[in-house]
Amino acid sequence: MKLFTSVNDVSDVQQLVAEALQLKQNPFAHKHLGENKTLCLVFLNPSLRTRISTQKAGQNLGMNVIVLNIDKEGWALELQDGVIMNGTTVEHIREAAGVMGEYSDIIGVRSFPGLKNREEDYSEMIFNKFVEFCKVPVVSLESATRHPLQSLADLVTIEELKTNDRPKVVLTWAPHIKPLPQAVPNSFAEWMCKGDVDFVIAQPAGYELSKEFTNGATITHNQDEAIKDADFIYVKNWSAYEPYGKILPGNEDWMLTLDKLKEAPTAKVMHCLPVRRDLELSSEILDSDRSVVIHEAGNRVWAAQAVLKQMLEAL
Ligand code: CP
Repeated sequence: MKLFTSVNDVSDVQQLVAEALQLKQNPFAHKHLGENKTLCLVFLNPSLRTRISTQKAGQNLGMNVIVLNIDKEGWALELQDGVIMNGTTVEHIREAAGVMGEYSDIIGVRSFPGLKNREEDYSEMIFNKFVEFCKVPVVSLESATRHPLQSLADLVTIEELKTNDRPKVVLTWAPHIKPLPQAVPNSFAEWMCKGDVDFVIAQPAGYELSKEFTNGATITHNQDEAIKDADFIYVKNWSAYEPYGKILPGNEDWMLTLDKLKEAPTAKVMHCLPVRRDLELSSEILDSDRSVVIHEAGNRVWAAQAVLKQMLEAL
């Protein structure tokens, strides 16, 4: 594997999930694979889980790992081509990414969308420039439209905890006070559509995701109906795709509560984290045995390690 930005970069999804679970059983089995290899994790935005889990994954494989919070610690980056750099930006992404490629065998990049210009965000302009100019394999640590390491960890979690061959998985929209990207739900949807699950998306009218990611999903505006008999309920807020990046009025009653889970007596509740308690998801669920959010976050290590292992094998 030379690039990991979406499920489409994976030749065999089930095999990658199985590999992640094998690594969980034996984290140091391939500790010589990354010897004398450098992983550089570049963050243009904040992170807790992605940063630590990917760092740990690289270290488990014997890699040297460098983390750069480029938004705070690097020179102010110019992302546009064709501009005279006589303003606040100091270094162009062409040189910055090229130089980082000189120091690294694999680069990870996190770059959130601006949520102002849909065309620009959905073209993955920043992420693709890193890929183009660094000239080494790149793993997405969450881009403008996708969060594939999260989705792989989610699929690993479902595979581990499922109690029947084809679980019902529901992605349900949740309220929030800020407009959030569509990257996590987009990515979760496209991975679930490739998984062996019955996949339902429940959302208020107006929060339809781009069809590019939801082909094969059942989409409903009725949360109660969607939740009924679910095996896994994935809670996540996202802003509207149209009008782009906006929060639509109302829908506060979409927060998941224990009462709503009565019709799904064995459902496990997932969330990628960070989560705003009692806004997006009730603390009564988060503090109950229905929640698997910590277990899910733990699996981020094995998802990242499986991807890095395949990348190291292809160097
Ligand atoms: N879920 C996730 O990506 O968490 P961080 O933003 O903390 O990395």
